[in-house]
Amino acid sequence: MGYQAHFRVWRGDADSGALRDFRVEVNEGEVVLDVIHRLQATQCPDLAVRWNCKAGKCGSCSAEINGRPRLMCMTRMSTFAEDETVTVTPMRTFPLVRDLVTDVSYNYAKAREIPSFQPPADLAPGEYRMQQVDVQRSQEFRKCIECFLCQNTCHVVRDHEDNEQAFAGPRYLMRVAELEMHPLDTADRHQDAQTQHGLGFCNITKCCTEVCPEHIKITDNALIPLKERVADRRYDPLARLFRR
Ligand code: SF4
Ligand code: F3S
Ligand code: FES
Repeated sequence: MGYQAHFRVWRGDADSGALRDFRVEVNEGEVVLDVIHRLQATQCPDLAVRWNCKAGKCGSCSAEINGRPRLMCMTRMSTFAEDETVTVTPMRTFPLVRDLVTDVSYNYAKAREIPSFQPPADLAPGEYRMQQVDVQRSQEFRKCIECFLCQNTCHVVRDHEDNEQAFAGPRYLMRVAELEMHPLDTADRHQDAQTQHGLGFCNITKCCTEVCPEHIKITDNALIPLKERVADRRYDPLARLFRR
């Protein structure tokens, strides 16, 4: 049975805006993105919202729903009581374009700062061999749909805009970790992890892991092992001797 839900949606741009209240029809089996689309179709034709797959795979429809960073297309309306107000706001960490759409170019800039995979010079494509356990590690990280919910949630940038330059964020530190732990990657990435990508800013609060819609164990499987590798190299007495 359908019902009328109370939605509170952010409307505005970088200069001004406010939360607006709406009554919108909800039908059985719908997700928040369905209701936002109905709002657009019936009451606010100019409501800006980014989406693409409606299947939790393109990473476009990220927003904050009742204050929690989530994908709109994967948030079922059945998780809310019928008389509950559902508040939908744009991701807070990134500059607002309009309504529910933010400018996520910070993330693309961070992606470009990480040098790509560097295989051994004496191996041709097709000659790469590695253990299944190493394949599986990379596969977990490669489930990432680049929704940027982890980037939006991590307090290092969310609460301190001035850290943007120095901190790559969990998604891109995970990329550094993947390459650093890759048995065929020849680049030495542990130094850059600390100096270029701001690994030291991460104090393993795990908020990034909590919001990942792909359930990637970002902190336990990427960030902590990367920190351990950096610490091992830095405090290894032999390595210190050679550095001197
Ligand atoms: Fe989204 Fe998870 Fe990828 Fe972060 S790691 S961008 S939360 S899918
Ligand atoms: Fe931020 Fe995740 Fe580290 S939330 S502080 S990157 S564990
Ligand atoms: Fe693609 Fe939601 S629309 S993840």
